[in-house]
Amino acid sequence: MISPIVTVDAAAPGRSLARALEGGAVLLFPDLPFPFNDFERRFTERPFADGKAKNVNIRGEAAELRGAAGTPEEQEALRQLLIRYRAFSRDLIGRYLPDYADRVDLAGTSYRPFDVDRRKLSWRRDDTRLHVDAFPSNPLGERRILRVFRNINPAGEPRRWRVGEDFGSMAERFLPRLPGYSPLSARLLALLKITKAKRSEYDHLMLHLHDALKRDEAYQAQGPQADVDFLPGQTWVTFSDLVMHGAMGGRYMLEQTAYLPVAAQADPSLSPQRILAQKLGRALH
Ligand SMILES: [Fe+2]
Repeated sequence: MISPIVTVDAAAPGRSLARALEGGAVLLFPDLPFPFNDFERRFTERPFADGKAKNVNIRGEAAELRGAAGTPEEQEALRQLLIRYRAFSRDLIGRYLPDYADRVDLAGTSYRPFDVDRRKLSWRRDDTRLHVDAFPSNPLGERRILRVFRNINPAGEPRRWRVGEDFGSMAERFLPRLPGYSPLSARLLALLKITKAKRSEYDHLMLHLHDALKRDEAYQAQGPQADVDFLPGQTWVTFSDLVMHGAMGGRYMLEQTAYLPVAAQADPSLSPQRILAQKLGRALH
């Protein structure tokens, strides 16, 4: 089954949005308001980024801005825009996913002014390839990655995605190819500070799934998939650790990352953590 796009009626949200999201849907909000003032419009006219990193972002309570370019006044305005987007994302979760509201932990907020990178990147960094998100240095353990995206392109350009098959079918295909987990090397990675915490077996599997997926040219070309366009003004929400996706094109986007404990899900058995354990027939280490 290909991940479904579920359009949400903002005025009359259904009660089962969390369930749909946990089941692998992308929730699409066609026209939630997030207006820019005259000054802010410049952020969609040219990239206010230093070009060293892929994105500009704020992190933490201090919301320190990283990777931005422009005058101090412009950078402060961009920072405020990202703070406002973080609040917008929090409100969206509070309104449409109320069961998550008290459990979710808002992490980085990013401004993505550049087109999808089509330079000859290594396959591992090439996000046009279908993948699930996994963070090499930041083990997630029992947390999920929930993301809120918004296309802010001023010229009508869509953000173009591909979505792939459901996580369970993908896992069945790829699990037999993954190397076994070594608690000893996980401890070593943490001791050497290569990872911020000890990499769990779940994190190990997700990293290797990410790589095995991206490396498989035949699967990338012929595996189950569908194209999706997200238009300017649209907001979409998904568990990016569950939904297979590739970003094919488009520039000027906002993104909020949030972490949710598996235990806070309406149905924890739908998490990649539990799906992998179920496919392996045992609990993960
Ligand atoms: Fe991704």
